Amino acid sequence: MIDHTGLPIIRTERLQKRFGSQIILDGIDLSIPDKCIYTLVGQSGTGKSVLLKTILGMIKPDAGKVWLHDSELTTMKHAELIATRKRFGYAFQYSALFDSMDVGENIAFPLREVLGITDKKVITQKVSRMLEWIELPGIEKKRIDELSGGMKKRIGVARALVMQPEVLFFDEPTTGLDPVLSETIHNLVIRVHKELGITCMLITHDIPAAFKMSDRIAFLDKGKIVAEGTPQDIAASEHEMVRDFIRIAFNKLEV
Ligand SMILES: Nc1ncnc2c1ncn2[C@@H]1O[C@H](COP(=O)(O)OP(=O)(O)OP(=O)(O)O)[C@@H](O)[C@H]1O
Ligand SMILES: [Mg+2]
Repeated sequence: MIDHTGLPIIRTERLQKRFGSQIILDGIDLSIPDKCIYTLVGQSGTGKSVLLKTILGMIKPDAGKVWLHDSELTTMKHAELIATRKRFGYAFQYSALFDSMDVGENIAFPLREVLGITDKKVITQKVSRMLEWIELPGIEKKRIDELSGGMKKRIGVARALVMQPEVLFFDEPTTGLDPVLSETIHNLVIRVHKELGITCMLITHDIPAAFKMSDRIAFLDKGKIVAEGTPQDIAASEHEMVRDFIRIAFNKLEV
């Protein structure tokens, strides 16, 4: 069992974000323990992706703070923020791979462009090891349009992992996948966490999977975190939306 008594790796303090008159984040306080799987759930359009992007520094909050260990990201100068973001990896909703490059070039991209590695031998070796690790060895030369949806997702994860991040963010990694492939991706997240000791923060609509794999779960509703805790804590929540979500998700399973 992972020790969660240590200091959090990521913390947010009264995060606020609005788009026009629409309040998306209304004072979000989160504390993400180091080396855990932390899952964010909530209705579609409620602001989960906005929250993730705000933590990653891709969206600037109107107010509030984001911390990585004891560094405050929200007040960092641009160059420092760019450097800090190298410690994060992310695999987004639609894989976002470059169609014009083959698989190997896609995974090599952050090594060249972000880490500035130029040694071709080092890059080839890292890419090849990464493909082995995600159990898709030897497909460096495949084109992206030759891959299945599930393979694309795994390549997206490999591209994020090759940077050896401290935290890996997944925004709906299983959307659009069949249940078997979804399980493959969930197992990959669990391996990232267990074998590499990386903190994983993910957004998913798959409530049963979230309950199975997460150390902690947070529910976002109308700009606020309405329930947060271990899966057992969440199962005991009396919040109406949380109860509805769980009831519907688990009833579906019994059909
Ligand atoms: N850059 C932006 N400019 C204006 N509005 C935005 C922007 N990004 C997101 N929004 C709005 O913020 C709200 C929350 O969006 P977000 O993508 O975070 O939802 P979500 O919870 O991730 O939904 P889903 O589960 O469908 O992915 C939506 O109403 C969306 O239209
Ligand atoms: Mg989203």
